[in-house]
Amino acid sequence: MLEIQNLSKTFPLGRKQRAQTGKTEVTAVDALTLSVSGGEVFGLLGANGAGKTTTLRMLATMLAPTSGTATVGGCDIVTQSADVRRQTGLLFGGDTGLYDRLTAFENIQYFARLNDIEDSVSSARIKRLAEVFRFTEYLERGAGKLSKGTRQKVSFARAIIHDPALMLFDEPTLGLDVTAKKEAEDFILSCRDNGKTIVLSDHTLSVVERLCTRIGILDKGKLLAVGTIGELCAANGCDTLEQVFFKLAGVRNEE
Ligand SMILES: Nc1ncnc2c1ncn2[C@@H]1O[C@H](COP(=O)(O)OP(=O)(O)OP(=O)(O)O)[C@@H](O)[C@H]1O
Ligand SMILES: [Mg+2]
Repeated sequence: MLEIQNLSKTFPLGRKQRAQTGKTEVTAVDALTLSVSGGEVFGLLGANGAGKTTTLRMLATMLAPTSGTATVGGCDIVTQSADVRRQTGLLFGGDTGLYDRLTAFENIQYFARLNDIEDSVSSARIKRLAEVFRFTEYLERGAGKLSKGTRQKVSFARAIIHDPALMLFDEPTLGLDVTAKKEAEDFILSCRDNGKTIVLSDHTLSVVERLCTRIGILDKGKLLAVGTIGELCAANGCDTLEQVFFKLAGVRNEE
């Protein structure tokens, strides 16, 4: 479903950073190669600044790669970006991008319309997703008047209203309370069971442990290791994912 080949992204540094580091650019993602199939939840783990969001933004066609390529369902993220977007749902934690003056329902419906989904079809889906995420009572409320967690739930529904085969979730459980977090996790697992391909990043190791079929550890844009938790532990002589993470990616904060 998702094939990533040597994907790289460099950003030019500002004057101040150039002076501080003596470098002209930062390599946010460095020759990433990876395949993810339907029915998999792939977890990107890495310290702040490791390149997780940049990777997800490139896959979502929001950001052009500097070099390398990726395909989603056989469609190239650069030359066939419209086809990629049709097959992709994208959710960024914390930054929901909802229109405050539209209701929760209207926000989701608007996105559905952008994806050429008939209102009759989207209405039924919105109701079902609102039940799954338990925000039915807030459907008619303006998004600007919703709590952070409810906004995140509405954003979840909006991201997947077009029933995409590939779901990209950047810190999807950020800001959710314990119950909502569990609902979001259960939802991701049900998507996996329905054959969806999911790539997510999350700093909470317990979330990654519960959801991910495979994990990749990113450090300074490089994929250091890929595997199931069992494989990663065995290869690194560790007992837990946390130990593997500290061994490979350390506690360095790149920012
Ligand atoms: N638009 C940009 N312009 C310049 N540099 C950027 C830009 N976006 C990201 N970077 C740099 O790219 C690197 C990777 O950032 P990215 O946001 O992908 O990390 P991350 O793994 O998502 O981190 P976090 O865990 O903090 O969300 C960082 O050094 C960051 O400063
Ligand atoms: Mg990030």
